Amino acid sequence: KKRVAVLISGRGSNMSALIEAAKNADFPAEIVAVIANKSDAGGLDAARAQGIQAYAIPNRDYASKQQHETAVSEALHAAKADIVCLAGYMRLLSPEFVREWEGKMLNIHPSLLPLFRGLHTHDQALEAGVRVHGCTVHFVTAGMDEGPIIAQTAVPVKTGDTADSLTERVLSVEHETYARALALVATGKAKMENGRTVFSD
Ligand code: GAR
Repeated sequence: KKRVAVLISGRGSNMSALIEAAKNADFPAEIVAVIANKSDAGGLDAARAQGIQAYAIPNRDYASKQQHETAVSEALHAAKADIVCLAGYMRLLSPEFVREWEGKMLNIHPSLLPLFRGLHTHDQALEAGVRVHGCTVHFVTAGMDEGPIIAQTAVPVKTGDTADSLTERVLSVEHETYARALALVATGKAKMENGRTVFSD
């Protein structure tokens, strides 16, 4: 099984979904560590309750982004991680860090990329007037929310939707989408090659 570390900043519902999926004996990955960049990230307790090593490496404790990333990198190596999953990790990683994990680092984004990069994706979707919205799991590259797509799930936008109702509908499909994408990468059925995702059965 591939060893997976999950990076979070908050409540970690996607992290919990990956932990849950990995309990299945057939799942090709195990979650070996959870690291938060905030000491009060709610997901840390949720991970510990599942018996998973989880701790904060708070970026505010470090003088520079580079020093913080060095600490995160050391933690990932100490955990012998093969794959890194960003799950609501709200810090942009440097190109150097991204390069080290190229093809082995995944992110989930709450929109159908390449639409609506960045923050407030549900407001962006309402503003644009799209009638379908959703989530994307992609390989992480240096450009924010730009990497090659591994999996997407669409949901309808309904009359009367608000950012809150859309957040909830999209989140309800994020969890299975992330587990599915991680399984594809862990088995080698989805690989990043020359800036594209190549799929095989
Ligand atoms: C999720 O909706 C995820 O897609 C989003 O943050 C939320 C984290 O929730 N990620 C981003 O916006 C990345 N830019 P969670 O902590 O419950 O998984």
